[in-house]
Amino acid sequence: MNLDELYQTVILDHAQRPRNYGELPQATAFAEGNNPSCGDEVTVYVKLDANGEKIEDIKFKGAGCAISQASTSLMTVKLKGKTVAEASKFEKTFHDMMTAVTLPEYPQGFGDLQILEGVRKFPQRVKCATLGWNALKQALGGNSSHDPVTSENE
Ligand code: FES
Repeated sequence: MNLDELYQTVILDHAQRPRNYGELPQATAFAEGNNPSCGDEVTVYVKLDANGEKIEDIKFKGAGCAISQASTSLMTVKLKGKTVAEASKFEKTFHDMMTAVTLPEYPQGFGDLQILEGVRKFPQRVKCATLGWNALKQALGGNSSHDPVTSENE
C-alpha cells in the first residue's frame, strides 16, 4: 500500500467511524474550532488529571468534511494519555506540518498523523485538517481552572 492509498484508507476509516466521538461530561476544559470558509465546527473536550498535567480523556463532537473528522479523530486517539506538554508539542508539529515552509521534525510517537502531510499541498483543506487541533490548542491554552474555555455551550 503506497502513501496515497494509506491516506485514503485511514481518512475514510476515521471519517466513517470517528473515534472518541461525543461529549465528555467530566471535561475540565473544552473549546470550539470553526472553519470560516465552510461554517463547519467541532468542539474538543479534554479531561485533565488532578494536577492539570495529563490528558486522561479527550473527545470531540461536531460536523465537518472527511478530512476534518478524520484529523480530529486521529488526534484524540494519539493524545489520550499524553501529558499536556506532549500534546502541545504534537499540536505545534501538526501545525508546522500543514503550514511551515519546511517540514518539521516529527516527535516520537507522531506516527500515522504524518499521513496527513499531503494536505499541505491544498491550502483550502489545511483549515479542515487543523480544525480540531485549533480547538485543542484553545482548550489547553485556556485557563487551568475547571471553567470551560468557551461560554457558548454553558
Ligand atoms: Fe468544512 Fe472541511 S469543508 S471543515
